Amino acid sequence: MDKETMTASKALRGEITVPGDKSISHRAVMFGAIAYGRTTVNGFLDGEDCRQTIACFQKMGVAIQYDRKRGTVVIDGRGMEGLNEPSELLDVGNSGTTIRLMLGILAGRPYFSVAAGDKSIAKRPMARITEPLRSMGAHIHGRRNGTYTPIAIPGGENTLMGIDYSLPVASAQVKSAILLAGLQAEGKTTVREEYRSRDHTERMLQAFGARVDVSGNEVSVSGGQSLQARDVEIPGDISSAAFLLAAASVVHDSSLRIKNVGVNPTRTGIIDALMAMGGDVTFENERILSGEPVADIVVREKTLNGATIAGSLIPRLIDELPVLAVVATQAKGRTVIKDAAELKFKETNRIDATTKQLRQLGAQIQATEDGFIIEGPTPLTGAEVSSYDDHRIGMAFTIAGLIASGETTIHGAQASAVSFPEFYKTLRLLSE
Ligand code: S3P
Repeated sequence: MDKETMTASKALRGEITVPGDKSISHRAVMFGAIAYGRTTVNGFLDGEDCRQTIACFQKMGVAIQYDRKRGTVVIDGRGMEGLNEPSELLDVGNSGTTIRLMLGILAGRPYFSVAAGDKSIAKRPMARITEPLRSMGAHIHGRRNGTYTPIAIPGGENTLMGIDYSLPVASAQVKSAILLAGLQAEGKTTVREEYRSRDHTERMLQAFGARVDVSGNEVSVSGGQSLQARDVEIPGDISSAAFLLAAASVVHDSSLRIKNVGVNPTRTGIIDALMAMGGDVTFENERILSGEPVADIVVREKTLNGATIAGSLIPRLIDELPVLAVVATQAKGRTVIKDAAELKFKETNRIDATTKQLRQLGAQIQATEDGFIIEGPTPLTGAEVSSYDDHRIGMAFTIAGLIASGETTIHGAQASAVSFPEFYKTLRLLSE
């Protein structure tokens, strides 16, 4: 396992871009694969998870050309019916988005398929996907009655039926899987959420010519629709930019411009949270790119105060909560993060990993059933920590290392390759 050692950073300054959005990259490949015609994707995230999505659809016979240097993927789709039975295991590696969305596609295919991933995937709950898909009529086998990977779909002649489903917890992965199955089902499929999760699937399906009805927190599709290929420009990932937004907000005298970042309102919770804490973040050059809002984000260091982060804000910043906890250690007063029990089911248990390791660094943080309570500001002291093989934990503790005194060593730092391959290089460049 490789490691990286960080020391207290000088001001972070400059103008940069971040790699392509992970959620949108996965969807561009999948929707291109089930559409008719050629889809050209620019700005594709060259991360391990997204490469796994390409590999899975190649195993189903889809012609996909990936030019890693240029960040371009060319997909020649032949429609949903053009997917072939894979003769090998569909290996998703570490990628929850790949397996969950792909199961929505596989559920309606007439052929046999098996999907599985790494040790982390094997621990992540799949019942949230397999239960609604079964209630649509899909036949699903798998470990522990189809609630954990490996998951096998025997295929056959059964037809899926549309459902009206209320998600127990807001989840874009679950919503997307049901909508993808809904495209292959008879009748209408409706998904309801208490709070709105990221809506890239709805936007991209519409861009690919599907009719998707959105009303408040309800989304519906009718079965039997086909997708038409189109080109997709992928903006920078706000979830990657978040580490730089966090660092620049707390490292003295920092000022950064992060160009070309996706600022879809279902993803900008981190900015709302930083603003609620008194942060200084502004958007410039706002525009629409392939149906997604995009802007340059300017962030400056500012004295922060504690805040309560809860409710509808949570799905809008779910992946940013570990690094927000790091920021909160530097804010004046109490920060309460709640309604985020989902953190336990990510690449690792992020409530445990964040609390345990921030304490090691000297933070005053307490884990709760559904989040954290943090008292600040506390000076952090460097220590040996681990990524837990979770990209966002590794990167969150790298940012902690920039504000801690002494040395912070992050073991398993290579996990950042999942979503931000040049993370360490970028940080070095900005603090030069
Ligand atoms: C994702 C949705 C989120 C997020 C994940 C990517 C997506 O998961 O944590 O990193 O691309 O749909 P949930 O929808 O399960 O909360």
